Amino acid sequence: MSEVTEFLTVYSKDIKKAINENLSSIVPNELQEASIYLTDAGGKMIRPVLTLLVTEGVEGDKEGSLKSAASIELIHTFSLIHDDIMDDDDVRRGVPAVHKVWGDGLAILSGDTLFSKAFELIINSEKDPIQNNKSLATVADACVQICEGQALDISFEGRYDVTEEEYLEMIFKKTGALIAAATKVGAIMGGASDDVSEAMYEYGKLIGLAFQIQDDYLDVISDEESLGKPIGSDIAKGKMTLMAVKALNEADEKDSETLLKILKNDNSSKEDIDVAIEIYEKYGSIQYAHDIALANVNQAKELLDILPETEAKHKLSLVAEYVLERHT
Ligand code: IPE
Ligand code: IPE
Ligand code: MG
Ligand code: MG
Ligand code: MG
Repeated sequence: MSEVTEFLTVYSKDIKKAINENLSSIVPNELQEASIYLTDAGGKMIRPVLTLLVTEGVEGDKEGSLKSAASIELIHTFSLIHDDIMDDDDVRRGVPAVHKVWGDGLAILSGDTLFSKAFELIINSEKDPIQNNKSLATVADACVQICEGQALDISFEGRYDVTEEEYLEMIFKKTGALIAAATKVGAIMGGASDDVSEAMYEYGKLIGLAFQIQDDYLDVISDEESLGKPIGSDIAKGKMTLMAVKALNEADEKDSETLLKILKNDNSSKEDIDVAIEIYEKYGSIQYAHDIALANVNQAKELLDILPETEAKHKLSLVAEYVLERHT
């Protein structure tokens, strides 16, 4: 286990407990089970751990941020449940997706329940009302951005002229915004100044962009067992990724046609995916995406200079690196 996975495991225990407590009153039982299911299945908990680490990094009280951290994880889980319906993916965190077990209706409702419970958690944070309000505004803003980003993601399906700029806007909204909110809320709840809170927002945004670029990469090169979700889902659905955008821009007519045919095919085979990867590699698209992600990570690490020297600052730097080292 790496140092990062070790502290993710340690910090996530309290977050899980806070989530379980918060969801224990939901009835009927089926809705409670569907709502708790993915937390029990076990995610990496990167977002809520970032919230706690930033609170520690600004020398605030970590305990006081626990409910907000749990809130961020609930928003993330809600987005995953709905995302698997939208992407028609059957496996999440190594187990059947919520909609596969309980059907679309209950899956939509459990997502909605988590979404609402997340706001309840911040309201009950026992912090200064100004801190609570600022956190609520930050999380609400991120939720709108997730929906905007997911809507852009859907609108890019079947469009093969998406620019790099459009792709980056889409991934900032669907993924970067919540990670940025996680780090900003950690700063707000830790009592940091507006300048520090904004720097932490930028740090979260940059690692969030890198996180989604790596997610797209893992979707083509990993395996379902390590990743806990289906592989090749993006190529099969014709999703726009930075690798696809770059390859479609650079490829000659023949390779471009081959790639387009694979992206347009809803039933791409393992062999088709391998051909797409070969085209990505031939035109340096995988390296290109990695270079952009790495530049974001390095810029994010520089933003940590604003924090005092603490163990938490060191951990935040390690998390930034982990985003690109991770295989799950
Ligand atoms: C998956 O996020 C969804 C994306 C935004 C790419 P994670 O990779 O953090 O998923 P879990 O929470 O560990 O399952
Ligand atoms: C991130 O995009 C989705 C969310 C914002 C929930 P993906 O659709 O790539 O996420 P995964 O790969 O299914 O986890
Ligand atoms: Mg998905
Ligand atoms: Mg998706
Ligand atoms: Mg993905």
